[in-house]
Amino acid sequence: MQSLLILGRQPELGLAELESLYGYDKVNKVSDNVAIVDIDPCLLTFQRLGGSQKFAKLLTEINTINWSDIENFLIKTSPKHSEKNPPGKMTLGLSLYGFDIKPNQIYRSALSIKRAIVKTGRSVRLVPNKSADLNTAQVIYNKLTSNRSWEILIIKSDKKTYIAQTIMVQDIKGYSERDQARPYRDPKVGMLPPKLAQIMINLSVGKLDQTKLQSICQNEDTKLIPNFNQTILDPFCGTGVILQEASLMGYKFIGSDLNPKMVDYSRKNLEWLTRKNDLNIKIDKISVADATNNHWPRFDFIASETNLGKPLSSLPPKDILETMIQDLNQLINGFLINIAKQSSTNLRLCIGIPAWQINKNDFRCLPIIDHLENIGYNLIDFKHINNKQLIYYRPNQTVARQLIVIKRK
Ligand SMILES: C[S@@+](CC[C@H](N)C(=O)[O-])C[C@H]1O[C@@H](n2cnc3c(N)ncnc32)[C@H](O)[C@@H]1O
Repeated sequence: MQSLLILGRQPELGLAELESLYGYDKVNKVSDNVAIVDIDPCLLTFQRLGGSQKFAKLLTEINTINWSDIENFLIKTSPKHSEKNPPGKMTLGLSLYGFDIKPNQIYRSALSIKRAIVKTGRSVRLVPNKSADLNTAQVIYNKLTSNRSWEILIIKSDKKTYIAQTIMVQDIKGYSERDQARPYRDPKVGMLPPKLAQIMINLSVGKLDQTKLQSICQNEDTKLIPNFNQTILDPFCGTGVILQEASLMGYKFIGSDLNPKMVDYSRKNLEWLTRKNDLNIKIDKISVADATNNHWPRFDFIASETNLGKPLSSLPPKDILETMIQDLNQLINGFLINIAKQSSTNLRLCIGIPAWQINKNDFRCLPIIDHLENIGYNLIDFKHINNKQLIYYRPNQTVARQLIVIKRK
């Protein structure tokens, strides 16, 4: 069975993550923010995908993009499909992607589908649309992924329409706890959102070893964590978000930071995570070290958000910006040269470096990104996106994070 994913706010990050984990040929972008992945849904490990909001099973595709034809198709097929639900009242919601249809028209279509199901003797509650698609919070609040309910996703793609049913949505409560409820946070070092940490880890580890997931997949306990027996290094670990997410995904870690206070924060945050989730995490591998000259024990990948410079609410005068760019470029250059000296060919890295939004969607990037080859690295070539487009930002943010995905030559 194929899995369908609704990608997040910046679909290119979600696509890069999928391509990295499952390979280019398994990922098919069917609309601006929708991808179909040719992977058994059980092996997809949706919980680790920071760049996908909804995970659905593909039910069918129909050769039309005409809304009244689609509505008729759903009216005709829904009563039969509803027989698979356990007896009792069901909840129904519709989410449209790529169609220009107003919420009140969607509601009228949903009413017609409801009437067709009600004729089979089952009562149905409708979730009204405020926009074309229901958001994650609405899906959770209305329990639309329970076995009594459906969220039907209707996706327009060129000349055909995909129909899918949501199985899971992102655990927004879990992400917010891992972000906001950690005991030690520091806005001055920039707080990496856990979703972005997951994306960075996925970009650094590359293709997933599916055999490590088989036993988890067959187990009913959805909280089980696989053991990949691989170690991620974060040499600018700050408050430890990457270390935290790596542990929850089943990786060991080594973390270090120049600032002893940050090392202390990382340790304490990891202790908190261990207690809260009853995990068995080894916290002794976090130490004070300078990323430009330290030598670390063996590691398999690097996922790290380097120094981003001063937090800024607007662009500083030109000379100050130029000095910041020069200093940060030198730091990252020194770090990459140090890693190149102690790593073997093909080591994969995903590093988050600063970029400054000088105009809307127009970024000033660090010069290092054009000189990676000279210091021993190749940019990893993605087919679905341009590697240099991987910039995480919010519309009004001055300092963005550019994700560089590279391999040791
Ligand atoms: C943007 S923060 C990383 C934030 C981190 N991702 C988190 O989740 O909190 C960058 C970190 O780099 C550290 N740093 C700056 N220069 C460094 C160096 N030369 N070696 C190691 N760490 C350094 C800073 O102390 C800071 O904690």
